[in-house]
Amino acid sequence: MPAAAPPSSELLAQFREKARSGRLSVAVAGLGYVGLPMALRCARALNRVVGIDLDPARVASIRKGISYIDDVSDAQMREQVEAAHFTATTDYEAVRPSDVVLICVPTPLRKTGEPDLSFIVRSVEAIEAHMSPGKLVVLESTSYPGTTEELVRPRLERGGMRAGRDFYLAFSPERIDPGPKHQDYGIRKVPKVVGGVTPNCTEAAAEFYRLIVDQVVAVSSSRVAEMVKLLENTYRSVNIAMVNELALMCQQLGVDVWEVVDAAKTKPYGFEAFYPGPGLGGHCIPVDPFYLAWKARLLGFEPRFIDLAGRINSSMPHYIVNRLTDLLNDAGRPVRDSRVHILGVTYKPDVSDLRESPALTIIDLLRRKGARITFSDPHVSALTLPDGTRLDGAPLEQGALAECDCALIVTDHSAFDWDYVVREAPLILDSRNALKNYNEDHIHKL
Ligand SMILES: NC(=O)c1ccc[n+]([C@@H]2O[C@H](COP(=O)([O-])OP(=O)(O)OC[C@H]3O[C@@H](n4cnc5c(N)ncnc54)[C@H](O)[C@@H]3O)[C@@H](O)[C@H]2O)c1
Repeated sequence: MPAAAPPSSELLAQFREKARSGRLSVAVAGLGYVGLPMALRCARALNRVVGIDLDPARVASIRKGISYIDDVSDAQMREQVEAAHFTATTDYEAVRPSDVVLICVPTPLRKTGEPDLSFIVRSVEAIEAHMSPGKLVVLESTSYPGTTEELVRPRLERGGMRAGRDFYLAFSPERIDPGPKHQDYGIRKVPKVVGGVTPNCTEAAAEFYRLIVDQVVAVSSSRVAEMVKLLENTYRSVNIAMVNELALMCQQLGVDVWEVVDAAKTKPYGFEAFYPGPGLGGHCIPVDPFYLAWKARLLGFEPRFIDLAGRINSSMPHYIVNRLTDLLNDAGRPVRDSRVHILGVTYKPDVSDLRESPALTIIDLLRRKGARITFSDPHVSALTLPDGTRLDGAPLEQGALAECDCALIVTDHSAFDWDYVVREAPLILDSRNALKNYNEDHIHKL
């Protein structure tokens, strides 16, 4: 049983006072792409952070000061670990002494396309066992509007405490954009949207995040904050789908879609450039809109934009394979037994994240047609295909291109030597406009 709480106004005043004097301690549950950088940012700001992850290898790595996330360097990690500002554990007992608990666990889709909330449920149930009056719990994992109120709140209130009176509960979406291009937008500089399940909860959460980021945007409820994240990601999914469809039209019309987008983006207002590509990847854009669609359907609403965008975006790997098939055919080769070299297998440039990467689907489709696949990726040494086959990367310099029938650019990593690629590969399909400065006849663009 939790200890009896002081009156709610006093509890909030205590939380505020602790925040303003910089004495809040933080626990971060889930130390992946989102949780680890956030834990380090909190450690820098508050000096008292414990990370909780069920993966003992990750915990051991943190304790040794070795990073396993692209955007976090060993030096950044070691600085906080050696100063004892940041530690890690697999044990949720660490929640007990913490004033703030951030939940950053995965929210994937099941094979059926339905949200898999089991990670949130498991984490919240473990937190509940160590709740005490005055704590702030914030869900940062992306989920459908209503998750914080309907799924998290009842579990945390099981012991008799009430959100807004005895403890604080809010949702605050993570807006991290992994990759070195976006390091200027470190966690501190990206405004943080915060919505509590009660006004007191919003106030406590805003008070905490003001210590972590430069700008806090308080909204009227956790539901609004959840919807903000889904709007941001659905906006990207729909616009990428629109420009992917435009790319297919441009192909028929004999127009270069990349030139069209680049010229259109010179308009100083009312237009934001999105680019076509071989398909969506990563944890967010291919997944999050379906959380919203699922919830909308439960309410009897059919979300047409999300579905159409999903269909167009997920058809892109198939389109790329068809284009490649046609190009090989024009060169007098069937796909079967053709040697296709894939350049870049991660879902975006200059990261090592393979989650939902379209390269995996493209490789699978080509292998089913009998193509012999090799790949190069400066960030990935080997990958496991959906059927369990392991494929080792082949360094470009070791003649991988000279021996292939066709090179397919899936990810335009900045480490690739494009002069070398253009010189060595006999035929190239470029799905990213990586070769925009080359005019050779053997280059074909999406
Ligand atoms: N990756 C991104 O770019 C990004 C951006 C914004 C939002 N998000 C959202 O943030 C959330 C986390 O995503 P991520 O990319 O960091 O995931 P991730 O897979 O990189 O990391 C999740 C971590 O949580 C751990 N974990 C799983 N269950 C746990 C539990 N019950 N308790 C403690 N730890 C547990 C895993 O071991 C893993 O280390 C998701 O909801 C995602 O949609 C991700």
